[in-house]
Amino acid sequence: MGVSTAPGARAPVLRVAERRALPVGGHDRHQSPAQSRPNLSFCNEAESAEFFKTTTCCVSPRYAPMLFSVRCAPASVCGACPTCGGSCVPDSVSEKVCHAMKYLEHVDTSHPACGDLYDELPLWSAPFGLLLLERMPMRPGLTVLDVGAGTGFLTVELAQRCGAQATVIAVDPWAAGMRRLRRKLEYLGIENVRLIEQDAAELDLPEASIDVVVSNLGINNFANADAVLRTCYRVTKPGGRLLLTTNLVGHMQEFYDVYRATLIELELADRLATLDAHINHRATLASVTTQLTCAGFALLAVATDSCRMRFANGSSFLRHAFVRLAFLPAWTSVVPPEAVASTFARLERKLNVVAAERGELALTIPMACVEAYKPGAPEARS
Ligand SMILES: C[S@@+](CC[C@H](N)C(=O)[O-])C[C@H]1O[C@@H](n2cnc3c(N)ncnc32)[C@H](O)[C@@H]1O
Repeated sequence: MGVSTAPGARAPVLRVAERRALPVGGHDRHQSPAQSRPNLSFCNEAESAEFFKTTTCCVSPRYAPMLFSVRCAPASVCGACPTCGGSCVPDSVSEKVCHAMKYLEHVDTSHPACGDLYDELPLWSAPFGLLLLERMPMRPGLTVLDVGAGTGFLTVELAQRCGAQATVIAVDPWAAGMRRLRRKLEYLGIENVRLIEQDAAELDLPEASIDVVVSNLGINNFANADAVLRTCYRVTKPGGRLLLTTNLVGHMQEFYDVYRATLIELELADRLATLDAHINHRATLASVTTQLTCAGFALLAVATDSCRMRFANGSSFLRHAFVRLAFLPAWTSVVPPEAVASTFARLERKLNVVAAERGELALTIPMACVEAYKPGAPEARS
């Protein structure tokens, strides 16, 4: 094998497709690194970590957790691995068996790789972020609080756009996301950001210390949104701004129409009320502005827009990484666990029919950017 192993290290369980010899350095001279990437599979995460610790290989260590999570699945779904008797996907056979419904598997947001991959997802965050950035006051020396910063799409942007004299404080309890943000900041050499890994409702920043509070797609995700907004109000300077974006009721209406029809067809009409409750949990302009004013803010402006997410069909839509991470858990919880697979199999077929009729599956996302201020310094309103 063309791999190096540290003296004394336990040999990792490694299956390389066709057991082709790899030169040290990971790829032979006649192939590009991508072409020669070995097809690795490990029986558990410790083994994959050990392999990447002791091996010089064209697969970067930062992809090791991803390889692990891509190749492995619960034994209950795929059957036990003949090598380890555990949870490793036993090569191509069970991959074929479980591939069709793999998108229903739980996405573990606490896994470090999830934070890494989330960085590839700002396509969802971006249109909202652009709405917000368009309205963001840009002055040197601002102290900005990014609430629900996630992997820091907006934090990184604001820290750079507002300049080194500005301070951006990013708060989010999502450890994997904050870890990713920390790495981005280190890599980019950005020093004017402070990270606070906790629930924003519990922030103990000094009263009236923030010039601008921003939150991109946060409010819909805060279980305790009213408490978070009250804290935001407390820490904002009089005259200071709050800018938040959210998707609105009407989000993916085209999908929900098909979901509704599916429930009726499958004689699961008793789940329609649950589906409606899920649809209606999203913000409306009225609900957001009420929440802000209840927290003490005064409304300044509302900008609305909409964008579309377009897919070839329902199959590509349901398997999209971000759809799985952000939406599928709530969608599957509409039906009882024992009905999830059959419901989604039918739903997928129906979405595919709709896509074939329309030439694509396009989903509308209504968006809003709401701007408010903390009363007390009227000049800040100009
Ligand atoms: C849809 S993500 C948006 C992330 C980021 N702002 C962006 O635009 O990419 C919502 C974020 O809110 C965070 N969140 C949820 N509850 C929170 C809370 N109570 N306080 C702070 N952040 C929270 C989540 O962990 C998640 O990172």
